Amino acid sequence: MIPANWTLLEDGEAVALEARDRILAAASEAIHNRGCFRLVVAGGRTPERTYNLLAAATSEWERWELYFGDERCLPADHPERNSVLVEQTLGSKVPIPQHLIHPMEAELGPGEAAARYSEIVTDALPFDLVLLGMGEDGHTASLFPDHPSPDGQLVCAVHDAPKPPPERVSLTPKALVNSRNILFLITGETKRQAVTAWLDGIQLPASQIAVEGTHEVLIDRAAAPYP
Ligand code: 6PG
Repeated sequence: MIPANWTLLEDGEAVALEARDRILAAASEAIHNRGCFRLVVAGGRTPERTYNLLAAATSEWERWELYFGDERCLPADHPERNSVLVEQTLGSKVPIPQHLIHPMEAELGPGEAAARYSEIVTDALPFDLVLLGMGEDGHTASLFPDHPSPDGQLVCAVHDAPKPPPERVSLTPKALVNSRNILFLITGETKRQAVTAWLDGIQLPASQIAVEGTHEVLIDRAAAPYP
């Protein structure tokens, strides 16, 4: 049994299609009511198909503002950068004004990049939608188990991430929960153990962001707990 705000879908493609629809709906509401749509994009590979589907959709793209949940401390053009994935799949395909896409300057190193991004996030809150993935250990963005992020900060430097590369920059829970909507995309059997732990009430970085009444989870059968 999964919670009411979780949606179980057949496979990764169904998750991507539903995620596209929910993101477009959130964009339409935000633009209609507030004149812009402030989206925090997720890193990793899970959201790639969702970004491809968004790129083929219609929206008032000039009203979109993209922020990043986290970034790997690699050169700005490195193929493993989250900013490169988002640029290749979405940013280069739709007319979101370049000055409204806010990559983390993670190439400067965790500390400098976190300090600079904190100023950008301060002016952006509250977000309209935060998109998040979840790792096999229950991490989300670059918030990892047994790696507490500093209280009171919006952006943190990560120096010893268990998932390579070790140096990263991440929004903290304080920033991630400051959003009208939070949407997790979780697919694949490698996530099943973490999903089961989450539903068993074990505290995970991902479940820490699951604000009552604000978060939704799209999950496929492969990642869902055994019945
Ligand atoms: C990152 C991501 C990370 C990711 C999860 C899931 O930079 O690595 O932000 O939090 O969302 O590790 O990754 P996959 O979607 O590739 O499984």
